[in-house]
Amino acid sequence: MQEQLAAIVNEVETALVGIKTRPDFEAFKAKIVGGNGSLTAVMKQMGKLPKEEKPAAGKLINEAKRKIEAAFAATLAAIGDAELAARLGDPIDPTLPSPDDFEGRKHPLTQTREEICRIFSRLGFTIADGPELESEWYCFDALNTPASHPARDMQDTLFMPADTVSKDASKKADEAYVMRSHTSSVQIRTMLSGQPPIRIVAPGRCFRRDTVDATHSANFHQVEGLWVDKKVTLKDLKSVLDFFVREIFGTSVETRLRPSFFPFTEPSFEMDIKSQNLGALSGRWLEIMGCGLVDPKVFENVGIDPQQWTGLAFGVGLERIAMLVHGIDDIRHFYANDLRFLRQF
Ligand code: PHE
Repeated sequence: MQEQLAAIVNEVETALVGIKTRPDFEAFKAKIVGGNGSLTAVMKQMGKLPKEEKPAAGKLINEAKRKIEAAFAATLAAIGDAELAARLGDPIDPTLPSPDDFEGRKHPLTQTREEICRIFSRLGFTIADGPELESEWYCFDALNTPASHPARDMQDTLFMPADTVSKDASKKADEAYVMRSHTSSVQIRTMLSGQPPIRIVAPGRCFRRDTVDATHSANFHQVEGLWVDKKVTLKDLKSVLDFFVREIFGTSVETRLRPSFFPFTEPSFEMDIKSQNLGALSGRWLEIMGCGLVDPKVFENVGIDPQQWTGLAFGVGLERIAMLVHGIDDIRHFYANDLRFLRQF
């Protein structure tokens, strides 16, 4: 039996050197350890041996089995390595630079947001922040927006079911919550948390029940502005916004304030721009933001004396500005994460 086993081990070790593929390996393995394999046949002889010879024979068989299994495992590993190398082609040098020279960069909306904040910071504005899930009071009531205002319609604003909000300990159970429909709620938060003078910009995400198309998104961004001080006038509003628009679109841009209405500003305006450098949109008046002087009622709602303080406020759409600056014709590009789009900025 010892000779038989030695012969099998020898056969295995010799034959495996020449075996390079998985099917060849499996076929050979069956010839040794399969039902009719040579090693299996030797093991079957064990049963016929006299009892006293069995322990020694068992030991010999186990030893041979160990050697054979080790040889099988080594061959299988070599076949696996060869298969991987074949799939990868040439050997890889992980120290080489990537053949893709794209370094990655900021999203165009991030770039535009940072640019807008940079411009206003040069006028002394600091950055303020507020939550996206907002109570109705901050989003509407404190901003002098009555319950009957269309912005508070279920069709325009995403109201949050009470049971999803009350889990958060910072929220009051009896208040209604909405995904903020504008960043103007940050005006209220800022005025409640500090005394005037105040000069802030608040970039952030807003939510509306809009059907998505080339110019609408249920999810978009605004940059809010608020300046509260003694004797802030329309002249300040116009000069601050003109400065901003010229920084973004160049000095040849024309601007106009068109009378409008917001419950939280009085008077209220839409600011329009006209430029010859806007591709297909050149030479046309284009609305870019809402603005106005802070309504005295809003000051009263946050405990600021409207006899003493005045203010200006504005809210500019981030996507709108980025689309005009870059000549982007579809708002959906911003959210598709398509590198062919993103690499252009
Ligand atoms: N919150 C207004 C909007 O979303 C914009 C605005 C902000 C208007 C500040 C006036 C003052 O349309």
